[in-house]
Amino acid sequence: MSEYKNLKTSVENGIYTLTINRPDKMNALNRETVQEIGAAIKEANENSEVFSIILTGEGPKAFAAGADIKEFMGLTKEQGMAMAKAGQDVFQSIENSSKPVIAAVNGFALGGGCELAMSCHLRIASENAKFGQPEVNLGLIPGYGGTQRLIRYVGKTKGLELMMTAEMINAQQALDLGLVNYVVPQENLISKCVEILNVIKTKSPFAVGAAIRSANAYDGTPKGFDAELTEFGKCFVSEEIKEGISAFLEKRKADFSTKNTQTA
Ligand code: COA
Repeated sequence: MSEYKNLKTSVENGIYTLTINRPDKMNALNRETVQEIGAAIKEANENSEVFSIILTGEGPKAFAAGADIKEFMGLTKEQGMAMAKAGQDVFQSIENSSKPVIAAVNGFALGGGCELAMSCHLRIASENAKFGQPEVNLGLIPGYGGTQRLIRYVGKTKGLELMMTAEMINAQQALDLGLVNYVVPQENLISKCVEILNVIKTKSPFAVGAAIRSANAYDGTPKGFDAELTEFGKCFVSEEIKEGISAFLEKRKADFSTKNTQTA
């Protein structure tokens, strides 16, 4: 696996852990870090040893405290749009990863940090985590998909309130709003992620990817149902459905580990 300037990475038992490593800057997402996250996610998706991904921040304080504010100074409208497009593309590649991605939110997840967590499939927060979209304090709005994903997760009423007031919420509030899946003590954060990923690992990888693709197509219109039809149909081409159904009929546990048909 490649080495990165702003990330620490490791693979253990099929889990690729990607740690944003700028703790003295609250793991702020400068352009280079965003680009490296994109490259690391691509690399993890292409590596057959990797089953799933944990994305977290170095140190006990921050997951990521947003885009690097210093890089905003003096941008033109076109440069601002290009910066947002680069971030949106990387965050979409996370959302579209067919391998499950969990955000282990170990502290501040503000601005682009909250947007990064929201681009992951699941979010587990430590008790000290704080979430927010404080961009209006700077004369900005979320630009890495946050205006869209926050509303998808918490609804327009609360989402717009958070974006307009820049209010920071704690982990329990995030849980109550449906923004995170679980809140755990910081020392249990990674083990909780591993526990969930180990459950997912026993399921059909093809079906897990298909569920992600179908859920990603949700936009409140019939298009989502069409995507579900396609993904449902594709499952029948995979070898894994044969194993899953045979195992049920033979009253045994399915073993998907020898079936490698993620290309159906
Ligand atoms: N961009 C660039 N640098 C950042 C940053 C960001 N988004 N967030 C934190 N930093 C830097 C600080 O400038 C400081 O650097 P310095 O030591 O060189 O001065 C370092 O990280 C530590 O941050 P500091 O503010 O001293 O820590 P704190 O514990 O007092 O406060 C936060 C933590 C997260 C509340 C605070 O840093 C903050 O509000 N950050 C900006 C959040 C934000 O607006 N994000 C949206 C960006 S679009």
